[in-house]
Amino acid sequence: MDDHEVAARWHGNADVWSRHVRAGYDTYRDHLNNPAFFALIGDIEGMVALDAGCGEGYNTRLLARRGARMIGVDIAEGMIEQARAAEASEPLGIHYEVASMTDMPMFANGQFDAVFSTMALMDCADYAAAVTEICRVLKLGGMLAFSILHPCFVFHLEAREWTRDESGAICGLKLGDYFRRGIGEDRWCFGSAPDRDEVEPFTVLYFDRTLADYINPLCACGFTIEAIEEPYPSDEACEAEPRLRKHRLLPISFMVRARKATTNGCP
Ligand SMILES: C[S@@+](CC[C@H](N)C(=O)[O-])C[C@H]1O[C@@H](n2cnc3c(N)ncnc32)[C@H](O)[C@@H]1O
Repeated sequence: MDDHEVAARWHGNADVWSRHVRAGYDTYRDHLNNPAFFALIGDIEGMVALDAGCGEGYNTRLLARRGARMIGVDIAEGMIEQARAAEASEPLGIHYEVASMTDMPMFANGQFDAVFSTMALMDCADYAAAVTEICRVLKLGGMLAFSILHPCFVFHLEAREWTRDESGAICGLKLGDYFRRGIGEDRWCFGSAPDRDEVEPFTVLYFDRTLADYINPLCACGFTIEAIEEPYPSDEACEAEPRLRKHRLLPISFMVRARKATTNGCP
C-alpha cells in the first residue's frame, strides 16, 4: 500500500466527503476535535503555515480565518479541486497544491512558521517520511501540531468492538494485538449524515502504528514535544452529539504540539 493507493481512495471520497463536511455532518470534528486542536495551537495570527493533508480545506479555512497565511497540500486531486472551488467562491488567500506531504519540492527549507495536520497523518502511507519532510519545510523554532486517531484505542478496525453491560450501555472496548502493524481498508460514513444509506461510504486505507511509531520519528528529527491532548467530550459536546459520550471512557483522538528545536541533520 503506497501513496498512489491512498490518493486513489481519497480522490474517490472527495465529492461526498466535501458535501458532508460542509453540511456539518462531521460532528466529532465540530464538537470534539476542532475545539481541542484550536486550544492546543493557540494564537496563530500572522504565521505562514502549511496544512498537510488538508482535504477539501475545511480546517485550512478555519486556520486562515484565525489570521494565518495558509497553504494547503493534499495527495488527492479531487480534494484539492474542492478546496480550490471553495477558495474561488469565498477567497481567504489560501493557496493549494496537489502533493504528498512526504515530498514537497515546491517548498523551500524553513519556509513555514507552522505546519498543521488534522486527521491526516494516520492515513499517510509513510509517516516517518512525512515527519522528515515536514521538519525540512519548517523553520527552526517552528511549530508542528497534528491530530490523529488515537493509536492506543483505534486500531485493527476489522476486530474493534465496543462492549456493553447488562443494561446495554457501552462500558468498554475489546482490543488486542496492539503491536501488530496492520494495514487494511475500511469503509465508513459520518454517523449523522441523513443520506448515509444512499451514498457510497468513504473507502480509506488504515495503517496501524503504535504510539512509539508516532513519537520516535519526531524525536529523531529534533522536535521537542510541548504538549499532547486527548480530547474529553464536554457536557455540551455530548448533548449536541450523544455518540461522543462513549469517548468519555476512551479517547478517539490524539494530538501533539511539537517545536523544531534542533535540526538533527534536517536542513
Ligand atoms: C481524514 S482526511 C482529513 C482531511 C483534512 N485534514 C480535514 O481535517 O478535513 C485525510 C486526508 O489526508 C490526505 N492524505 C493522506 N496521505 C497523504 C499524503 N501522503 N500527503 C498529503 N495528503 C495525504 C488524504 O488525501 C485525505 O484528504
